[in-house]
This record gives sequence, structure tokens and C-alpha cells, in this order.
Amino acid sequence: MFDITAGRLTSKSAKSTVIVFAEDKAKLVAAGSLVDESLDGAIVAGLKGTRFQGSSGQIKVLAGVSGGKIDQVVVVGLGKIAKMDNAAWYKIGADIGRQLDALGVREASIALGEDGGKADLEMAGQMLLEGVHVAMYRFDRYKTEMKPHQLPKFKKMNLLTSGRAARLLNAQVDALQALFAGQDLTRDLVNLPANEANPQYMVEEAKELEKLGIKLEVFDEKQLTKMGMNLFMAVGGGAAQKDQPRMLVMKYQGAGKDEPYRAIVGKGLMFDTGGYNIKPTGYMETMKCDMGGAAVVMGLMRTLAERKPKINVIGVCGCAMNMVSAEAFLPGTIYKSYKGLTVEIGNTDAEGRLVLADCLAYVVEKEKPKEVIDLATLTGAIMVALGAQYAGLFSNNDRLANALHKSGGDVGERLWRMPTDSAFAAKTELADLNNDGNRYGGSSTAAVFLERFVDNTPWAHLDIAGVTLNEKIPSPVAVKGATGYGVRLLLNYLEGEAAAATATPTRKRRGRKRR
Ligand code: BES
Ligand code: MN
Ligand code: ZN
Repeated sequence: MFDITAGRLTSKSAKSTVIVFAEDKAKLVAAGSLVDESLDGAIVAGLKGTRFQGSSGQIKVLAGVSGGKIDQVVVVGLGKIAKMDNAAWYKIGADIGRQLDALGVREASIALGEDGGKADLEMAGQMLLEGVHVAMYRFDRYKTEMKPHQLPKFKKMNLLTSGRAARLLNAQVDALQALFAGQDLTRDLVNLPANEANPQYMVEEAKELEKLGIKLEVFDEKQLTKMGMNLFMAVGGGAAQKDQPRMLVMKYQGAGKDEPYRAIVGKGLMFDTGGYNIKPTGYMETMKCDMGGAAVVMGLMRTLAERKPKINVIGVCGCAMNMVSAEAFLPGTIYKSYKGLTVEIGNTDAEGRLVLADCLAYVVEKEKPKEVIDLATLTGAIMVALGAQYAGLFSNNDRLANALHKSGGDVGERLWRMPTDSAFAAKTELADLNNDGNRYGGSSTAAVFLERFVDNTPWAHLDIAGVTLNEKIPSPVAVKGATGYGVRLLLNYLEGEAAAATATPTRKRRGRKRR
């Protein structure tokens, strides 16, 4: 975490380390030229004869500029600034964050100036800061031999822009830090190995959120059994005593108590061995990430608790371990779900949809939410389809799907809508449903299964298997390990919904027309 301030860019702004932007042909943007003038043309002179072209993401560090007036200038290429949207600024922010980390500086300023390209100026600034933050995150708590000089040094970022944008950004600093804390929590939870982060660990984490005003209910294996959450227990019941399943129900009440709640449900497989349909070597090693959906729910609830938007949200985490043991469930067995539908187990490795089915049915029946969104590292098939560039979006409701699609695009966490028609449903012989997956169209098969458990509640399912943990395929912002994908997207969506609900119709009607 680093401090954030914003101020007006002036000819005296350049201190210690300054980031300036250039376009194609190494042409400085207006704000960059202002900094250059204040340094007696040292930036233009320093770029001359180098291979720096100003293409997007290209970086040139100029040290000891202008007779040592400042330590260094970091010139960052944008390609064409006119094409810069929110997602592009977010990515550039991450490029800057990585560079600053490598340079080992304590503070820096970004000369954004007054041109945000396609983005609103203050949004461009916000995206830059969010990008710097996402790149600065580290997970090094198991590195016991770390020397003090290897620890992250960066402490302060100063964003230099227009007076108006600076005022708006300064008013947003606490809200940004709340988002960062939530996103870091999500990433920590995903990065933590399963010997440390088991279902009970999630309970302890949720108890921390109680201190921020979140209401928490926890259901242990005895209660889940008694309630008839038999799919959930089939998956989680095979684990050791200390790793038995937990369902967490967290409530954030930011609007009136009679306002309807929106439910966010996360798949929390703290580890997925595949069960008796065991995963082969090469597929199992990363399965600590299989609680990525639940981690997003946890990080989001933390962020909501601090940012306090006027909206009511229930977060549900279905936490379990899919193990092999004498108690573990078997292929070919049949269970009655919480909802009452029976399910034949076609494959113990298609466990996520089983846990989610019971969680979704529970929250829909018990809380009657206005809408329900689930997040799950559900299928390998979505990684094949979309890589790390998009998460899959499945929905029974166009309004919800479109709003989520837009919310993701606006913050550079993109979604791509996939089909959910019944042609994808798995064949079943003995029971109402079968959790078997066809390799082909497998993400839609999983989604169609989930849809059976939400009645007619507006529902969206985000398959985040490809975007949650970065191993072989690079994420859009090229971070390592857990990405935190989903927290910014859902926060943007929920705050948009809160704003729409509080904008009174009278005010809208009376609003002055802009010419
Ligand atoms: N957790 C996995 C999906 C996954 C794969 C997440 C890779 C992250 C990275 C899920 O439980 C699973 O095993 N899905 C199977 C379903 C199949 C057995 C129908 C899959 O996708 O292969
Ligand atoms: Mn699985
Ligand atoms: Zn899984």
C-alpha cells in the first residue's frame, strides 16, 4: 500500500521521479512537453537517437536529467492517446507500477496533465492508480530469507493533472484504498496454499469483516447435513475433520432494511484434487485457486464495508475441499439436492456446480434476492475459449448481463457472453440431473446445470477459471499469481446500481439540459 495525492501539474511539478507520456514517433504529450520545458528540454534530448518509439507500453528511463535537477524521468509510450480508454490506462498504470518497483524508488509522480484520451480525465487518473497498485502487489510471506533491501519500497504516488480532476481524485483516495485492501485480500486468499487456507480459514477471515460491520452466519458440516445440503456435503464430506465444509453468509446493508438484497455467491473449493475422478499431474498443482470465486466475495464485502455504497448485498461462500478418502463421494452415486432435484454424479471432478447448486438454491429460497451473481473457477473449457483475456458470462437475464458486461469493460476486467440454451444440458438416465460434463461446450453445460437452481431469479454466472490465477497465460495487466479479477468489476456494477437507485426521478427531470 502506498499513499496517494493528486495535484495540479505546473512547470514546477517535476521532482525526484517523474513519469511522462509519449505518443508514436516518441512525441511527448502536452503534459510531457510542459515537464520537458521545466527541465530545459532534457527529455526530448535524452530520447534522441534511442530506440524509444512511444508505442504502447514501451518505457525509457532517463537518469540524472538536466544536470541532476531530478533523479529520473520515466517516459512511457501510449501509442495514440486519442485511443486510450479506461482499460488501456489501467494497463499502462500496471506497466508503470512494475517499472517503479524495479527502480526501487520511494515516491514518484505521474504527469497526466489534462488529456485522458477516450476516458474521462479523472477516470484515467483513477485507472492509472489502480494499475500501479495491481502491479505493486506481492505475495512474499513465505520468503523467509528476504533481505530488507528486497522489500517493496514504494510509499507515495502523486498524480499531476488538472485542478478539477485533482480535487475529484483527492476526494476518492480513501475509497481507492478501500478497493485496494479488498483486492489485496482476494489475491492473498487465492495465493495462500491449501494447507493453510482451508474452509475454517475463510471463517476466520470473515470474522475480521464483522469488525467492519458485516453480519456473518456460518454453517458447519453438521448444519449443512441437517439442512439437506447434500450436494455440498457430497463434495466436502470426504475431507479430514479439520477441513470439513463451511458455508458463509455475509450481509452488507448499505440501503434501507426493506430494500431487496443482491446476492453474490462464490465457489470456494479450497483445493480440488478432482476426487475419485482424480486430476492428473500437470492439472492439480494450481488447484488452490479453486476458491477464487469465494475470495472475490470476501474481498468485495470488505471493500463494500469501507466504501459504504447505498445498496444491500449478501455474500455467500461455499467452502469445501474435494478430496479422495474413505468418506469421499463416488462416481455413479445419486444425491438429493437442497432444492429437491436429484443429481447423479457423473464425475467427481465436476464438483463446483454441485456446491454452487446448493448455495444458489439456499440463498434464492431463504433471502429472495433481487438478483444473484455467482463467480466460480468452474471449467477448464472456459480457459480454452477465452484464455486470461475475458471471463465467461452466462445469464438468464439480458439487463443484468449487459450491465455486467459494461461494468467489466469500464474497468478493464472484461466479460464475454456465452450461450445457456438447454441444448447444452448433460444427458441423464437415473436422476433429474447429471453433473457429467461434455468436453465440448463444457462451460455452457456447467452453466445450464446451475441455472436449474435459481428458479426465475435474474442470475448471472461468471466463469473465472482462466482469469483468476496466472500461470502460463499472461493476464491483460501481466501480474503473477492471483489477479484479483472480479472485485473491481462487481464493485463498479454495484456502485452503479446504487447510484441509479438514489438518483431521484425529479432530479433527473429538473436537471439542466447541456448544450
Ligand atoms: N476447478 C476445475 C476447473 C478449473 C480448471 C479451474 C483449471 C481452474 C483451472 C473444475 O472443478 C473442474 O475440474 N472442471 C472439470 C469439469 C469436467 C470434469 C466436467 C473440467 O473443466 O475439466
Ligand atoms: Mn473439479
Ligand atoms: Zn473445481
